[in-house]
Amino acid sequence: MPGPAHDLTLRQDYFGDPTTWMGLVDLLQDTFSIDISLQAQFGGPDPTSMPFGYFDDDGRCVANFSAFSMPMIVNGQLVKAAGYQSGAVRPEWRGRGLYRDLMQRAFARTAAEGYELDLLLTDKPALYERYGFRILPQHISVARIPKLQKSDLTARQLSLEAPEDLRLIKRLLQERQPVSARFAVIRQTEMFLLNASFNSAIRLTALADDTVIAWTFDGATFWLLDVVGSAIPSLATILSALEVEPERIEICFSPDRLDCEVSLEPYEGYTMLMVRGKAADDIAGPLMLSPMAEF
Ligand SMILES: CC(C)(COP(=O)(O)OP(=O)(O)OC[C@H]1O[C@@H](n2cnc3c(N)ncnc32)[C@H](O)[C@@H]1OP(=O)(O)O)[C@@H](O)C(=O)NCCC(=O)NCCS
Repeated sequence: MPGPAHDLTLRQDYFGDPTTWMGLVDLLQDTFSIDISLQAQFGGPDPTSMPFGYFDDDGRCVANFSAFSMPMIVNGQLVKAAGYQSGAVRPEWRGRGLYRDLMQRAFARTAAEGYELDLLLTDKPALYERYGFRILPQHISVARIPKLQKSDLTARQLSLEAPEDLRLIKRLLQERQPVSARFAVIRQTEMFLLNASFNSAIRLTALADDTVIAWTFDGATFWLLDVVGSAIPSLATILSALEVEPERIEICFSPDRLDCEVSLEPYEGYTMLMVRGKAADDIAGPLMLSPMAEF
């Protein structure tokens, strides 16, 4: 594939080089006002990342598009899935085909590596429809309030800044059972930690030091964002252990493992989930990707 601009250098798989990595940090800071350098305190960026970037003569990253491995469970089946993220082009370089070029390179790479499902989140679906992506509607599950009991599980608030808490969370993320058998990530450590650190309202609570609950509560509504552990407790067990008595419960992932009754409401997020690939047709029914797995 010829590069679209001869005065730019294409770099692939460049995260090992601290200078080029900082180029991407700056591009995403300038484009989305997010600081992905925070990942340094959690052990660095996702080692499965496949970044494709154009750099100018001063070493600035002017365009990037990355793929990464995001194994999923879809209707009980393990699926080799790829996520796409960090798509941005600096304003002065837009409209010249740089993004098209980088998307084509990333898609060719994941196709060659046998990925069966491609996923991305975007506020610009038209950009990706021409490559065969379609929008997957997401649904919040509003749960019937379960009967709470006195809990003998210890609930302990965790902090990402406490090294032993971080170690516990990372271990459980590695050993976890997917939060849903219908639609969930199997392994995704880096985005979970980054999402938790981006949003200070998210609470991470360890139950008996073998399950982490990611949640928020505004005094009335309880949002269950993720459950990380080798077994998934019921919604009643979780609420009893956290000692919250909400008026409304919103579950932000497919709730099939929570042993609860739900009604569905369309999720109106800022971005849309899009999919394509040979495993995409197996995705059926209402679902939601946990906000902790957003990328
Ligand atoms: C969106 C963005 C990456 C496009 O970069 P670019 O280098 O200008 O894109 P290209 O010139 O390679 O155009 C690629 C294709 O996308 C189309 N496109 C560009 N911007 C688009 C937009 N906002 N919505 C829909 N389609 C768009 C182009 O028409 C072109 O179509 P073609 O391949 O059929 O000719 C860039 O505008 C940007 O960084 N925006 C801010 C960050 C952002 O939104 N990133 C995407 C996150 S999902």
